[in-house]
Amino acid sequence: MSNYHIKNLEEYFNVYRKSINDPEGFWEEVAEEHFLWRRRWDNVLSWDFSKPEVKWFDGAQLNITENCIDRHLATKADQTAILFEPNNPEAEAEPISYQELHDRVNQMANVLKSKGIQKGDRVCIYLPMIPELAISVLACARIGAVHSVVFAGFSSSALAARINDSECKLVITSDGSYRGSKTIDLKGIVDEALETCKCVENVLVTNRIDSEITMKEGRDEWLQPLLDMASKECKAEIMNAEDPLFILYTSGSTGSPKGMVHTCGGYMVYTAYTFKNVFQYKEGDVYWCTADIGWITGHSYIVYGPLANGATTVMFEGVPSYPDFGRFWEIVEKHKVNQFYTAPTAIRALAKENLDFVDRYDLSSLKVLGTVGEPINEEAWHWYNDNVGKQSCPIVDTWWQTETGGVMISPIPFSTPTIPTFATLPIPGIQPALMDENGKEIKGNQVEGRLCVKFPWPSMARTIWGNHERYRETYFSAYENMYFTGDGARRDAVGYYRITGRVDDVIIVSGHNLGTAPIEDAINEHPAVAESAIVGFPHEIKGNALYGYVTLKETGADRDQENLKKEINQLITEHIGPIAKLDKIQFTVGLPKTRSGKIMRRILRKIAHNDFSNLGDTSTLLNPEVVDSIIESRL
Ligand code: WT7
Repeated sequence: MSNYHIKNLEEYFNVYRKSINDPEGFWEEVAEEHFLWRRRWDNVLSWDFSKPEVKWFDGAQLNITENCIDRHLATKADQTAILFEPNNPEAEAEPISYQELHDRVNQMANVLKSKGIQKGDRVCIYLPMIPELAISVLACARIGAVHSVVFAGFSSSALAARINDSECKLVITSDGSYRGSKTIDLKGIVDEALETCKCVENVLVTNRIDSEITMKEGRDEWLQPLLDMASKECKAEIMNAEDPLFILYTSGSTGSPKGMVHTCGGYMVYTAYTFKNVFQYKEGDVYWCTADIGWITGHSYIVYGPLANGATTVMFEGVPSYPDFGRFWEIVEKHKVNQFYTAPTAIRALAKENLDFVDRYDLSSLKVLGTVGEPINEEAWHWYNDNVGKQSCPIVDTWWQTETGGVMISPIPFSTPTIPTFATLPIPGIQPALMDENGKEIKGNQVEGRLCVKFPWPSMARTIWGNHERYRETYFSAYENMYFTGDGARRDAVGYYRITGRVDDVIIVSGHNLGTAPIEDAINEHPAVAESAIVGFPHEIKGNALYGYVTLKETGADRDQENLKKEINQLITEHIGPIAKLDKIQFTVGLPKTRSGKIMRRILRKIAHNDFSNLGDTSTLLNPEVVDSIIESRL
């Protein structure tokens, strides 16, 4: 029995049992059999959640790009590694073979070196979904530079905050990007961001849309001429298993975005292992994940996991609605996609359109369907199952987080029977726990609580860049000796998990994790605004949308409210990006607060949900009278 590839339910249970009884033996076997190490580990695992400190495969040396690229060259040099599908459906798809990927990654790595980038330096990548994005990520990994990919939908100030937080020395970007029928001026956004970033010495620009841009002398350079001159050989930097591989920012319930740090060895082992099992990828299959590499889903399951398995991974530049709502299915037919991985919000958006957009295409190549990012509702699940999977493709509802690095709870297709809305069972090695409000574990089945993980797994984030105390406080202080996820979950009669959603102030809009604090900060910058509070409310397509309660200063009271709303959303777009715009804005006389001055979001959330039952005892509030007035003028 191989520990690597699970083929049926009985085997899943056997492997799972082994992974719990002897986690170190289990992961050691996986690590030993399936990867290329330059030096073996001294110790499989050491951990202490109270510090917290977790080390996997300590002492081992490797380079993840040798595992994702070089070792496949002997047998797969000509096989497509990345299959690039451009925004424009008329343009040719571009298959990049493992050999070509090797050459292009090495050229990029040599260019970075020529700009003085060394092991440990941070490089910010702000690119659309074009091959250069994956290549830049791998080039950083090749030379041991720590990549920090920022989703190219973030605004200049969000970009600047991320660049400054991790003190990136270099930015890789493009002149612009395509998004459906529109273009976006990425270089302009970078220029604006860099006005406040002293740490950046060089900007490398790839040409995507042939637009006129300004190049700052001594700082900015076109990438292509440098690549053309660079050698296709670049020795892989030997990394320690616990050296950082990348930083990826995610929103918290309070404060600035958190730069989650992932390390080389454990991340490689776990993303490769989960990719193989969760998608049941077989040699020759074509796999497509529709996420952007700007999010963890793209890091783990477009780039590292698939490539570590020698897979063919599709990278799509466009959007599901361009040129029409059939685009996804057109691509599935054209490339004979076998595994398809997307988000519930995309499924809901497509389910609203005419079924003809799906039925027009031959989807018979599909074997496994995946979903990620938020709980999938039953209706969307059935639509996906009936119309895309034709009731013959298992749906893997994969629960995980930026912090977890890889899928944590998910069916193993063809092994685990699925139930709509259930993420089902933990991946081998993962030990979930449900906790009650008093910090006690809730054992047994048919129970609900806060979802924690009791034991380390290889791809867990090791820290928050520059703020280890915040890492401890956010994830390891709520429950002793547990990683707290921020989610609630139910465990049913047979032990299946159903994720019920966030129990903190993080709101997931269209699968994007949005913290309330940065949005409120942006709103509060408006000169007419005194204070604000953001909550989520259910939205048919986005899952959640944002509802803002805004109290104006006296000077703002006679301002035109429609204009104010526009200005507020404009501020949010500038500070975070259009994804964080508010769907509803209610101007209020005040915000309900506790006597210690804390905004009672729970009450505001209920009002936004149109649920006025159990508002709780409002008499202990500092200002109980505002609650009635907010209810009266709710939107
Ligand atoms: C949060 C993490 C992991 C990649 C994308 C999101 C929610 C994620 C599911 C799922 C229910 C889910 C959780 C989690 N979430 N997958 N299958 N069912 N909820 O990564 O931005 O770090 O967000 O997304 O609330 O905590 P992220």
